[in-house]
Amino acid sequence: MAIDPTPTHIPVLCKEMVEILDPLPGKVYVDGTFGGGGYTRAILNKGATKVIAFDRDDDAVKRAESFNQEFGERFEMIHSCFSEMDKYLKPESMDGIVFDFGISSYQVDEAHRGFSFRQNGPLDMRMGLGATYTASEVVNTFKEKDIAEILYVYGEEPRSRQIARAIIEARSIKPFETTQELALLIRKIVSSQEGFDPATLTFQGLRIFINNELIEIERALKLSNQLLPIGGRLVTVAFHALEDRLVKNHSRVAFSHQEKLCMYTAINRKTITPSLPEIRSNPRCRSAKLRGFIKEVRR
Ligand SMILES: C[S@@+](CC[C@H](N)C(=O)[O-])C[C@H]1O[C@@H](n2cnc3c(N)ncnc32)[C@H](O)[C@@H]1O
Repeated sequence: MAIDPTPTHIPVLCKEMVEILDPLPGKVYVDGTFGGGGYTRAILNKGATKVIAFDRDDDAVKRAESFNQEFGERFEMIHSCFSEMDKYLKPESMDGIVFDFGISSYQVDEAHRGFSFRQNGPLDMRMGLGATYTASEVVNTFKEKDIAEILYVYGEEPRSRQIARAIIEARSIKPFETTQELALLIRKIVSSQEGFDPATLTFQGLRIFINNELIEIERALKLSNQLLPIGGRLVTVAFHALEDRLVKNHSRVAFSHQEKLCMYTAINRKTITPSLPEIRSNPRCRSAKLRGFIKEVRR
């Protein structure tokens, strides 16, 4: 895929997200993953009174500055992981919460962030706050069995053991410095399938581990239960099965809120996926799955 020299993020399933979240005047929404602000803008343009946005990434927070000028008090940006949103939000102070999980195109396309196996950059992959290791620390210092486990659990890479073995052998000659060194090694081991780079799953596994992504999502979903009022809406966009499974399982569990038994009811019977025209104009969105829920009292 050709890389745009000036990265931008095209919001995925944005029209559908707005339909399901149904932002209304007088109501306040939380955008847990500001990124380039595409969702925030759409929610505000639909007439919502206010959006409170979160992002762990410094660059996203800088991008939000122009939103402060454009929307004034209708917009508030918080530099924090969404797993800590309860530190900033009072229960029932919002009418809906949206999460667009994963990384933004800004993060992938800026080679120096180290997320891309198509461009050369330092092995970093930290999204921002809450990331413990760099990718370089993982591939150059972790034990073989731990690397294999990360690639298997978070990347669902069937060749995880073979790749981990090759990483250990290669680093004993020269430590990995760049994304291209790692991608080239994997391409030697894993055969390529059409439209799918052999390094995809390894890079996904490292990124999810480094940024604690699944734990972040689990915490954020639990906090949403506590924070949303009854009747509040939760909308999620997931990009791979690991994320989507967490949302699906979470939405089936009953929880208590103000001594009432609550559960989520799905707004859309089936998950919403991008249309062919959307996939053609933005191939990165092809695996996206949108789910929407309303918090309701069961007893
Ligand atoms: C797919 S992008 C969101 C794009 C956004 N919906 C838009 O329209 O521009 C995901 C964003 O979520 C942020 N993010 C990922 N995990 C996060 C977390 N645990 N806490 C806060 N922000 C997170 C990333 O830094 C990234 O900017």
